[in-house]
Amino acid sequence: MVESKRKEPAELRSHRWFGKGPLSFGRRSRMLQNGWGIEEFVGRPVIAIINTWSDLNTCHGNLKERAESVKRGVLHAGGFPVELPAMSLSERNVAPTTMLYRNFLAMETEELIRCHPVDGAVLLGGCDKTTPALLMGAISADIPCIYVPAGFMMSGSWRGERLGSSSAGWKYGQELAVGNISAEDFFEVERTCAPTVGTCNDMGTASTMTTLAEVLGFSLPGVSSVPAVDALGARLAVEAGRRIVEMAWCGLTPSDLLTEASFRNAATVSAALGGSTNAAIHLIALAGRAGVTLSLDDLDAVARSVPVLANVHPSGEHLMEDFYWAGGIRALLGRIREHLALDCATVSGRTLGENIEGAKVHDANVIRPLSEPVAEGALAVLRGNLAPDGCVIKPSAASASLLRHQGRAIVFDGVDDLAARVHDPDLEMDERSVLILRNEGPRGGPGMPECGMLPIPQKLAQRGVRDMVRVSDARMSGTSYGTCILHVSPESHVGGPLALVQTGDVIELDVPERRIELRVSDAELDERRSRWQPTRPQARRGYQALFAEHVTQAHLGCDFDCLASSGGVPEPDVHL
Ligand code: FES
Repeated sequence: MVESKRKEPAELRSHRWFGKGPLSFGRRSRMLQNGWGIEEFVGRPVIAIINTWSDLNTCHGNLKERAESVKRGVLHAGGFPVELPAMSLSERNVAPTTMLYRNFLAMETEELIRCHPVDGAVLLGGCDKTTPALLMGAISADIPCIYVPAGFMMSGSWRGERLGSSSAGWKYGQELAVGNISAEDFFEVERTCAPTVGTCNDMGTASTMTTLAEVLGFSLPGVSSVPAVDALGARLAVEAGRRIVEMAWCGLTPSDLLTEASFRNAATVSAALGGSTNAAIHLIALAGRAGVTLSLDDLDAVARSVPVLANVHPSGEHLMEDFYWAGGIRALLGRIREHLALDCATVSGRTLGENIEGAKVHDANVIRPLSEPVAEGALAVLRGNLAPDGCVIKPSAASASLLRHQGRAIVFDGVDDLAARVHDPDLEMDERSVLILRNEGPRGGPGMPECGMLPIPQKLAQRGVRDMVRVSDARMSGTSYGTCILHVSPESHVGGPLALVQTGDVIELDVPERRIELRVSDAELDERRSRWQPTRPQARRGYQALFAEHVTQAHLGCDFDCLASSGGVPEPDVHL
């Protein structure tokens, strides 16, 4: 392993704040003010617990207790825990979209670590963007870090049917809209689909990203598959507290964990999970922070080579709880071990291969063998004159019959226009039409809201249509499904070809050939481009102005251009 020689107390990072004799007076006296004795924090690893708990982030409802568990572990191992609250990105309660604030939390995490007297950090997250944000910040700060997820919620149940916490809303919202269930039925679903604290219980963005955090080496083995309310999660949080103290002494940092091979492992596992399309953006951003080149084409190549093995919604039938009881991530990794670089380092102090020794699959229907996959293709990257820099689709959650398709475009200029017109009975369309949504990309949204699973127009839904080809520069929730082409890059707000589409244009889609084309002549597109103007004003102040100025396009990971590299910011001077 890459751990180096054990440090002397005077070599700890926190020593620069607390160990300088009289020069540390100001800092030490204020620590004493809090009731702490000198012997508790001087000469010991000071461990930050970066906690994204908030009352409005119910996915993180257990993170206060998790923080206490981590503290017990840190104290037990001879460290000194300090809790540092950070912005909590609740997927449900943050508007317009948490993706607008992923980079905010990443910056906050990096600077919280950099500016404080800490020797290691435990990162507490789980709800979608919190995981990539915490990791991005930790990678840039590059001190020892362990990621501890909140865990996912238990399965809901309605009239004998298992309910996914988010997918139930998509599914029964549509049934309500066409009159197949009553409003009272829908409220019953609402009351039962999210029965405990924890993150979404489908293979949405949360479970995808917490699993990939573990595969990248940031978590203790198996923790990403543990439900929020299972006591094992608390015990592993204690263990994380003990382990981070050891890492602070021996110096195992993110740059020791992250290599081209570890990112390839993460992409491979995302494919086998049937992971969220959002992972494409986050993995590219994380790799950028680590100085590793990872492109959409790399992700496409991996997804072609590894099928979906996790039979978990939205690609499969089960929920995360079933995945846990079937053996969880360690069992899945065992299934695909020949596709993985097993010698990658992890925070456990062992390699990825050592972490999965002895792992067993307990239910071969939930964690399938390679010979009997759930589906082919968790991700496909398409290119063409409509998306010169690429766009993505999740074939495993789409309709096979629509993966080769030609239809006429119905264009919506943003979510307000969509809401106003999509259910208009006079809108001319049929099930072959291609619904286009634009101005919802990284800068146009802003923040690429998860509106890429456009609703099926009611007049078609009433005729039994449940899927159509939908194209946008937005994202969709990892719990969403359907033939949705997402992340079209460059986005329409900056003049990408999506901005030039007109209702009635023919769109041609060929997923097996990885193509998406707008059947309009180059001369006509040039003429439309000469007349094009952005339709939304750019933010002029505050964080949104900063975001608009620095965010990169989807195929580059939507990180800020000034952050998307490793190194370059020195440790702070610590004077009086
Ligand atoms: Fe928080 Fe899905 S809403 S994880």
